[in-house]
Amino acid sequence: MSNGEYRHVFRILFRNFINSFRPRQIRGNPMGKDYIGNKYYEIPADPSSGKRKPSRWYDPPKNLDFQDPIPAEWEAWLRLRRTEPPTEEEIAKNLAIAEMKKVNAAKLEAERLLEQGSLPSQVERGPQPYPNFLQHNNMAQQNLSSKEIFALEDQYGCRNYAPLPVALCRGEGVFVWDVEGKKYFDFLSAYSAVNQGHCHPRIVKALKEQADQLTLVSRAFYSDQLGKYEKFMTELLGYDRLLPMNTGVEGGESACKIARKWGYDVKKIPKDQAKIIFAENNFWGRTLMIPYNNIPALEKALQDPTIAAFMVEPIQGEAGVIIPDDGYLRKVRELCTKYNVLWIADEVQTGLGRTGKLFAVQHEGVKPDILILGKALSGGILPVSAVLANNDVMGVITPGTHGSTYGGNPLACAVATEAIKVLLEEKLPENAERLCKVFREELEKIPKSKVVAIRGRGLMFASMFIRVLTRMTYA
Ligand SMILES: Cc1ncc(COP(=O)(O)O)c(C=O)c1O
Repeated sequence: MSNGEYRHVFRILFRNFINSFRPRQIRGNPMGKDYIGNKYYEIPADPSSGKRKPSRWYDPPKNLDFQDPIPAEWEAWLRLRRTEPPTEEEIAKNLAIAEMKKVNAAKLEAERLLEQGSLPSQVERGPQPYPNFLQHNNMAQQNLSSKEIFALEDQYGCRNYAPLPVALCRGEGVFVWDVEGKKYFDFLSAYSAVNQGHCHPRIVKALKEQADQLTLVSRAFYSDQLGKYEKFMTELLGYDRLLPMNTGVEGGESACKIARKWGYDVKKIPKDQAKIIFAENNFWGRTLMIPYNNIPALEKALQDPTIAAFMVEPIQGEAGVIIPDDGYLRKVRELCTKYNVLWIADEVQTGLGRTGKLFAVQHEGVKPDILILGKALSGGILPVSAVLANNDVMGVITPGTHGSTYGGNPLACAVATEAIKVLLEEKLPENAERLCKVFREELEKIPKSKVVAIRGRGLMFASMFIRVLTRMTYA
């Protein structure tokens, strides 16, 4: 060997000799093992800074002496002194705890600043957020318990609902799960909005695909989706035209507007006198009412020549699943035709399969002049509603007389088309009809002393139990 080679060998031997006195944790290799086989783990990237510390290795049971703060996701592991890395769940939980601690610290800091007078109060501040508001309020990161969720809504919400004490975070088919992981049957189905089941994979897929392409265009332009959707729907439902809207309430408003305009333009009702009558306890319309399921009252009201339309739900949903007598809808059709009044059927809740047919009016084989759809039109994915009518009625709407920014947006069209295809291809109306029999049979087994009433069509069902007479069990 040359002198140089001797020097090289000596350097290696000397370095190994010195290394043997060094603490072990700096001698890991990228596989997480040192050369005599002890296992080490790399400290993962610090999630807040994204920095890695690749040169530091440690043996968890022994080496807890590093200077840097321990990353949150490793805390549980270190506490338990385990030799395997933490699971995904533990990491997520610890991150959430760390985030919560940060938020609480930020809150305390904000309170301290407020007390000092260096931060304006919410009232003084008005709609302006306080400095670093977004960091302090990173709620999406927090895993809240049911109780915390109830408290949040109670404190910050408008309180226009009084929900049952269940905080849901996941849904699939007929099931939903609360934040504590408890599984429930969802008999309420968002009042018919998720007739296709929660998060139906086909509808979600349609949403994602369209969301990657185009979500909204001003109605000053055409989109490649709207016309296709309108053709599909009108051909399926047997109407000439469709007016796309967003929510069920808007569907109802639009139907009233069309009917009143028809009243002036076609029926020649004198200016400002066109009226619409509603059936009592309808979801829609609280002003000019007649009793539901009462033909003589309807006939009397229709004789007023300023009546443009009559709006009724084929089965009253919010009123408690009230089913009219057989023949009521047929008679409504007959009288509306006789008195030249438009019949508006609000099928926002009863439509799209829930009652065992695509529409509840099909149970009596009649066709309304104006049909309003919503809820399950998107399978619970987006607010999508529609008003359908023939040319003689819808023709009264001309450019500029009715508009909606989101009505008919490409995303809604793609989602609604898929939602309807799911209903038809999976034969969901037939399924509702079949399950109705099963459900009714089971309910009828409950002793009469406990159940006061069982009524429904398809899976739009109500049963009243003696103990909770004031509250409906709704399926
Ligand atoms: C019959 C009926 N029409 C209209 C609506 C309103 O629908 P949305 O809440 O989507 O505006 C509802 C809602 O429950 C309804 O049941």
